Amino acid sequence: MSLNGAQVRCILTRAGAQFITPLTLSSLSGEKVYSELFSHTDKNYMDHIRLSREADLIVVAPASADILARMASGIADDLATTTLLASNKPILVVPAMNTLMWNNPATQRNINLLKNDSIHFVDPEEGNLACGEIGSGRMANIQEIVLKINSVLYKEKPLNGFKGLITSGPTQEPLDPVRFISNHSSGKQGHALALAAAALGADVTLVSGPTSLINPQGIETINIKTAEEMLNACIHSLPVDFAICCAAVSDWRPIKIQDQKIKKQSSKILDKSKTTIEITENPDILKSLAQLSPDKRPKLLVGFAAETENILEHAGQKLIDKGCDWIIANNVSLDSDTFGNDNNQVTFIELNSSGELEHEEWPKSSKNVVAQLLLKKISQTLVI
Ligand code: CTP
Repeated sequence: MSLNGAQVRCILTRAGAQFITPLTLSSLSGEKVYSELFSHTDKNYMDHIRLSREADLIVVAPASADILARMASGIADDLATTTLLASNKPILVVPAMNTLMWNNPATQRNINLLKNDSIHFVDPEEGNLACGEIGSGRMANIQEIVLKINSVLYKEKPLNGFKGLITSGPTQEPLDPVRFISNHSSGKQGHALALAAAALGADVTLVSGPTSLINPQGIETINIKTAEEMLNACIHSLPVDFAICCAAVSDWRPIKIQDQKIKKQSSKILDKSKTTIEITENPDILKSLAQLSPDKRPKLLVGFAAETENILEHAGQKLIDKGCDWIIANNVSLDSDTFGNDNNQVTFIELNSSGELEHEEWPKSSKNVVAQLLLKKISQTLVI
C-alpha cells in the first residue's frame, strides 16, 4: 500500500472479515492478506514470527474492545494476537467501539495496562458510531493516524525544544447572529502541519478557525472565529521559534455586527435596491507577525499564498510585501481541487542571499506529505 512509500501487510481477523473482504485489502495493499494461524495449504506456517520481525511498526486499527482485552492478557489464539505477542516492534492501537464499551472500566483498565506496556494509542473521537449511537468511540481520522505513525517511527525529534505556531482553517466574520463572511478553507493543510510539527517534537500551538476537523490530540489548540480573534491568539502564543500562517483569513469584515437577525424588510445596513454591505479590512496576521520587534518576531516565518492566476508572481510579491521568510504558493483556482481535498500542489518560494526570489516546485502529493516536507525544511533551517 502506498502510505508515503511504506510497504503495508494486512492481517485480517475473523471479526474484521465481517466488515471487509481479503480481496479489498489485498487490492489496496498490493500484498497478500494474512488471516490463518495454521494453514494446511500454506508452507509459511511461521507467518506470525515472520510478519512481526519484518514490520517496523504494527498498527491495530480498528481495535475492538475484544482485541484490547486479549492483548492486555497476552492471549495468542489467532494470527493477529500471536503476531502482536511475538513482536518486539512498536505497536500503535487505534480503538473503535461503542461508547459504553469504550467507557467500561474493564476496557479502560486494559488500555492502562497496554499503555504501561509502552503500546501507543490514537484515542477515538466523538461522533456517529457504526452501531447508530452518538458518542466517543469513533475511530480517529486517517490523517491523525498517519501522523501518529510518523511520530512513532521517527526516532529522532529534531524540533524537540522548539516552539511553533500554526494558523489553520477559515475565519468567519459575523454580519448578524446567523450570517457571516467566510471561505472554503477546510483546515486540512494547517492541521496536517501542526501534526507534522508535533511528530518532529515541536511544542505546537494551533490557532484554528471553524472547521469540521477534530482538535488534534496532544496539540494545544485555540479555536477562534474572527481574524481579530486569530491575531490576538497568535500574539498571545509568542514567543515562538517558527510560525506558519496557513489560515485563509477573511480579508474583510462587516463594519457593524447587528445584534438581531437582519430582516429582509427592514434592513438598516442592507440597502435593498443595491444590497450593499459595508465592510472594513481585517488585520493581516502574517504581516503583523513579520513586523514585530526582533525579540518577538518568530525566527522563521512562513506564509501560504492562495492564488488563482500568475501564481509565482503574485506569491513572490506577497512574500516581499508581508515580510515573511518563505511563502508556499498554492493554486486554488476552481480546477485545482485544492480546497477541501486531501492533495495539494505547492511551490516553495524564498529570497536567496542576493535578495532574488527563488522557487522550487514540489510534486503534487497529499497534504500530509506537503506538511512533512515543509517541517523537514524548517527543522533543517532551525537546527544547526
Ligand atoms: N493572511 C493573514 N491575514 C490576513 C490575510 C492573509 O495572516 N488578513 C496570511 C495567510 O494566512 C497567508 C498569507 O497571508 O499566509 C497570504 O494569504 P492570501 O489569502 O493568499 O492573500 P491575501 O493577503 O489575503 O491577499 P489577496 O487576497 O489579495 O490574494
